[in-house]
Amino acid sequence: MKRIAIIPGDGIGPEVASEAMRVLKRLQVRGLPVEWQVFPYGAEYYLRENRAMPEGGMEELAAFDAVFVAAFGDARVPDMAHAREILLGARRSLDLYVNERPVRLLHEAFTPLKGRSCRDVDFVILRENTEGAYVGMGGRFKVGTPEEMALQEVVATRKGVQRILRHAFERARSAPRRRLHMADKHNALEFVGGLWYRTFLEMAKDYPEVEASHLYIDRLCHDLVRDPSAFEVIVTSNLLGDMISDLGAALAGGLGIAPSANLNPETGKGLFEPVHGAAPDIAGLGVANPMAAVLSAAMMLDFLGFAEAAGRVRDAVRACATEGKVTRDLGGTLSTQEAGKALCEAMWAGQGAS
Ligand code: NAD
Ligand code: IPM
Ligand code: MN
Repeated sequence: MKRIAIIPGDGIGPEVASEAMRVLKRLQVRGLPVEWQVFPYGAEYYLRENRAMPEGGMEELAAFDAVFVAAFGDARVPDMAHAREILLGARRSLDLYVNERPVRLLHEAFTPLKGRSCRDVDFVILRENTEGAYVGMGGRFKVGTPEEMALQEVVATRKGVQRILRHAFERARSAPRRRLHMADKHNALEFVGGLWYRTFLEMAKDYPEVEASHLYIDRLCHDLVRDPSAFEVIVTSNLLGDMISDLGAALAGGLGIAPSANLNPETGKGLFEPVHGAAPDIAGLGVANPMAAVLSAAMMLDFLGFAEAAGRVRDAVRACATEGKVTRDLGGTLSTQEAGKALCEAMWAGQGAS
């Protein structure tokens, strides 16, 4: 039996988490050995309890086989203190250094790019997930005065850079086109960028079979839009990876469909979450697309060793995308719940009632 901790969180989080659970439930009643516990963490909890989680909360989450987070973000917690503690806290304390964010176009109608087929938009972003601009080092001085000063450090360690690059080279080695792009900004940020660039060039010598290229991050943004078909595996640092995740999502149809996994391949720890946030502009309207959450759950099922179930979920998403059984962000008319139900039906389409 695999045990999952589920945190629906804020905004559209609970709406899309319910649909991910609907899909998991459908698999469970068909015999998949998974069970889950829902944790009420989010802005509401934080404001009520004055803390993001109870004492020992992270240890409790870490004891599960996987953690699933839907979304955090609430105007009442403008500094996102709760998300920093739970999401960034889990990435750091569970040392989830690989943030894997696949970008796959499921139907050509979904991309804003003209004349692009599904084959043209199919790559993965590997974002370093534990250091860079996210280390929380810095501070402020003379807050609220004209002399106010703010400092936010960007940190790269050789170990941190090496392990994500190693993972990326290994990933590229087994990818069909064996193509890897590393993006940094070492022309302007010579210290941190320089460490990334030197490490990348050194490691490339160990992988002659991988077509390894470097691009500055600004150029990568340009090329991703101009010709996404040039990319297969992209690796970059934490903040840059965060930004190109949303760009990648846009190329494939938007945040409603972009999944992600936060992993430590050595310890076997994993946290799964859509790339999107709490989407306050549509929260409570019942129109959020559950596909990003459901595809994140599929990544989790793969990670837990349930490849068949994961494939079934992905096939269902593809089928609904093809048949236009989608929410309005993808041009459809279904509500969040209707889209979740359509996915469940598609999982066993043609095999009798489920
Ligand atoms: P967002 O991802 O929440 O929303 C961006 C846009 O995409 C919005 O127009 C939204 O309606 C749309 N969108 C997002 N998910 C969608 C879905 N499933 N279906 C349809 N449309 C969808 O980003 P934002 O507006 O910059 O941030 C809102 C809040 O979420 C902020 O508080 C931010 O800090 C937080 N946030 C949290 C996470 C996370 O929990 N992992 C990620 C990003 C942003
Ligand atoms: C993401 C989010 C988070 C990040 C926020 C909520 C801190 O944008 O997972 O992409 O910046 O990593
Ligand atoms: Mn993000």
